[in-house]
Amino acid sequence: MILSVVGARPNFMKLAPLARALAARPGVRHRIVHTGQHYDPDMSEVFFQQLGLPKPHYHLDVGSASHAQQTAAIMMRFEPICLETAPELVLVYGDVNSTVAAALVAAKLGIRVGHVEAGLRSRDWSMPEEINRVVTDRVSDLLFAPSRDAVENLAAEGVRSERIHFVGNVMIDSLVAALPAASALGAPARHRVAARSYAVVTLHRPSNVDDPATLRELLDALVLLGENGPVLFPVHPRTRARIAALGVNGLDGGLRLLEPMPYLEMLGLVSAADLVITDSGGLQEETTYLGVPCVTVRPSTERPITCTEGTNRLAGPERAAIREAAAAARARRRDTPARIERWDGKAAERIAAVICDGATFH
Ligand code: UD1
Repeated sequence: MILSVVGARPNFMKLAPLARALAARPGVRHRIVHTGQHYDPDMSEVFFQQLGLPKPHYHLDVGSASHAQQTAAIMMRFEPICLETAPELVLVYGDVNSTVAAALVAAKLGIRVGHVEAGLRSRDWSMPEEINRVVTDRVSDLLFAPSRDAVENLAAEGVRSERIHFVGNVMIDSLVAALPAASALGAPARHRVAARSYAVVTLHRPSNVDDPATLRELLDALVLLGENGPVLFPVHPRTRARIAALGVNGLDGGLRLLEPMPYLEMLGLVSAADLVITDSGGLQEETTYLGVPCVTVRPSTERPITCTEGTNRLAGPERAAIREAAAAARARRRDTPARIERWDGKAAERIAAVICDGATFH
């Protein structure tokens, strides 16, 4: 049996293509464990529905808490499932607390661990995700790298090449599969905006939203941007709480604060946007694949290929920096987007081949 452990919104798009690829292999038993790190229906359930994922076989219901409490709760509730099911392999995804917690449990029980999206490094240790990535990779047996730079990072850390598989990007697998349905939704028209006339924004990193002065500056930047066209901002629950605490009123103008968006609607909006402003990891990749200009409000990225080959630009959380980066990113819009090696919709197939057939991808 193979157990996949997921918990937070960006995990679900990475799981979906692999769940399909494993389901297509006769004799493979694959079970899904949902930690409950994300639990609001619009952060979790709607993604399972839209991605065609089966209901999780196990639900740990951990909910929100401090990093230590959340990580510990996942570990305590996941260990008995490992003992009961004795899986041959535990698969973990991305860089969230659910990822590192499940990897530690499995490794300590002597169960093989596979990390989907291994080898990404921001080298910014103030980000919890960087700690999660490094620790997860260190205890994993199968490291599934999305890009060449990820392979190089792992090799530089001394990981033996037999453990590293350059399979490509599963997030792009999901995008490729979902794009026709996402486009058919007519999401821009539903939001009363014309294609390529609007910006889409997501911000939820603690470094951007937890400090009131930084958040205030970012909202001012978005209000300014809204003077030139609609700015659609689906707001993460963490950010909504911080905006409410600021007591900000009168954010009308072009800036529209919206509820978190289901996957297809978001993809439909992003694919027709003029600009994306974000601090998410996945959106940096999705915009690069789609050729949509992107500004990432962070000092560094674990996905440098989106800047070197794609449409992404980094910016600090200041009005002037965002304005300049937006202009630079827009200048990189391509009608034929850069094709990045193995971002081709077949990454999950390669992972399944490694797991089931002992294939190697270097
Ligand atoms: C987590 C990941 C982050 C990822 C993000 C995607 C870690 C360390 N962080 O950050 O890497 O980019 O998910 O969304 O794993 N909340 C709700 N409902 C929910 C989930 C969260 O209201 O369904 C609120 C709670 O107040 C919670 C806060 O959001 O305290 C933060 O949630 P948490 O899962 O701790 O971190 P994220 O900021 O979502």
